Amino acid sequence: MLSDRQQHCLKGIGIRRGVGHSESTKAIDIESVVTAKPVVQKMSEPQVPVVEKPALAKPVINIPLDNWDAIVHSIQQCEICGLAQNCTQKVPGVGNQQADLMIIGEGPGHDEDIKGEPFVGRSGQLLDKMLQAIGISRSQVFITNIVKCRPPNNRDPHVDEVASCRRYLQAQIEQIKPKVILAVGRISAHSLLGTTEPVGRLIPEMHQLPDSDIPVKVTYHPAYLLRTPTAKAIAWQDMKTLYRLLR
Ligand code: URA
Repeated sequence: MLSDRQQHCLKGIGIRRGVGHSESTKAIDIESVVTAKPVVQKMSEPQVPVVEKPALAKPVINIPLDNWDAIVHSIQQCEICGLAQNCTQKVPGVGNQQADLMIIGEGPGHDEDIKGEPFVGRSGQLLDKMLQAIGISRSQVFITNIVKCRPPNNRDPHVDEVASCRRYLQAQIEQIKPKVILAVGRISAHSLLGTTEPVGRLIPEMHQLPDSDIPVKVTYHPAYLLRTPTAKAIAWQDMKTLYRLLR
């Protein structure tokens, strides 16, 4: 049985369950998910055309990324790609450096760019609730993104930007050695797994981080779930899979 708190969390995510279902049956009240009113997205800022500043021709800081100070320092100093010129601040990542679970999103959005922390906007609030529903708090996990600087107007990061940031993510993974990685959304899944398969096809399968034995679970991005409440039922299945993998 889920605790009152977990049921409250599920309600917060937008998933209601019939009372009295045992943990093993875990029936989801799909009807309530399907009929849930879509969340009206407030535009937090006008989508104005942005003239992106090019990358500065600065040397790459080539110190070994074999400890946290070096990783964070290198991210903070990095100007390899143009994203650094266009963001407010770097968003290296936050959380437990010995976490079993590492959550990897796409890149900082507006709120994250202001605060310097990943997943603090509406998507982040939903992600927190999804974790709470399986008894995991934000402080227990490590959260970061594929790129550490906000892409202007929240555009997808370009291939070269993802490639430039790859060494930082790689170093973070090597430090944490997580038991499981949760790839949140298309950009994260594609970048981590080196595929272009649609997320819907990646979700049902378990994956492995290339050149490692770390399992990767793919799930929908919370921003997508906010726009598409019917997909929350699948996200809840993903959370349950994650729970089993971490036990
Ligand atoms: N979306 C992401 O992918 N990452 C964040 O940090 C915030 C929103």
